[in-house]
Amino acid sequence: MIGNNTVLEARDLTRTYRRGNEHICALDGVSLSIQRGDFVSFMGPSGSGKTTLINLLGCLENPTTGELDLVGRSIFGGGTFLNEKALTKIRREIYGYIFQNFYLVPTLTVRENVELPLAFYNKSGARGESERLLTMLGMEHRMNHLPSQISGGEMQRTAIARALVNSPDILLADEPTGNLDTKRSGEIGEVLQDLNRNTGLTIVMVTHNPELAKLGGRQIEMRDGKAYESCDRTIFLRRTT
Ligand SMILES: Nc1ncnc2c1ncn2[C@@H]1O[C@H](COP(=O)(O)OP(=O)(O)OP(=O)(O)O)[C@@H](O)[C@H]1O
Ligand SMILES: [Mg+2]
Repeated sequence: MIGNNTVLEARDLTRTYRRGNEHICALDGVSLSIQRGDFVSFMGPSGSGKTTLINLLGCLENPTTGELDLVGRSIFGGGTFLNEKALTKIRREIYGYIFQNFYLVPTLTVRENVELPLAFYNKSGARGESERLLTMLGMEHRMNHLPSQISGGEMQRTAIARALVNSPDILLADEPTGNLDTKRSGEIGEVLQDLNRNTGLTIVMVTHNPELAKLGGRQIEMRDGKAYESCDRTIFLRRTT
């Protein structure tokens, strides 16, 4: 039974890929519960399954087996198989996504990029909301610039504003500072921490940067497709004995 504050509940998720005759177990039974307002970061070596997991949690890919509930609704498992249309709606309503490569549309201004997700809803007040978010993220002087005219850190701020414009329940971030230098990474880390603390935004982030991972109240280590939470007593014992 999912609690009121639980936004995400994953049970025994697995994901196997086939490469020729070889079966690769990218995710090997991950169970996880995320509460509203959590800031969870995933670390771990390359190939340990971080992107696979975050893509499953974000409904960007289907698990091989296992169950996923989001805001009290069954998405995968228990005989539920949502069609692509229902999944698209869930992605739009529950998630904001940011990635290492920003994925801004090069021919649109910063403001237009942020307003893009609202086009699906034909919402009024789009301009007011994009301006509010961009101002909050320190981008008020860049609203009419094109992506080619701003820095990497500013591109990621734009992508964050775009991710937030539909008021998502969860912000999913796969290596959001992977293309940024140390200073800009730190700044984006601060932006995420402020959002979590000041607006209660739930954040689920993959990072290779230990400084960034520390910002998350919960740190989870991925190894060989398994997830180990750092306050997990079994890990604590294994590390100290
Ligand atoms: N589409 C795919 N087809 C086949 N194998 C895949 C596919 N996607 C991922 N894998 C394999 O699954 C495993 C986990 O990959 P994943 O991308 O989740 O790792 P990661 O922890 O995100 O790594 P990185 O830190 O390099 O981004 C790897 O062995 C990878 O080669
Ligand atoms: Mg990855």
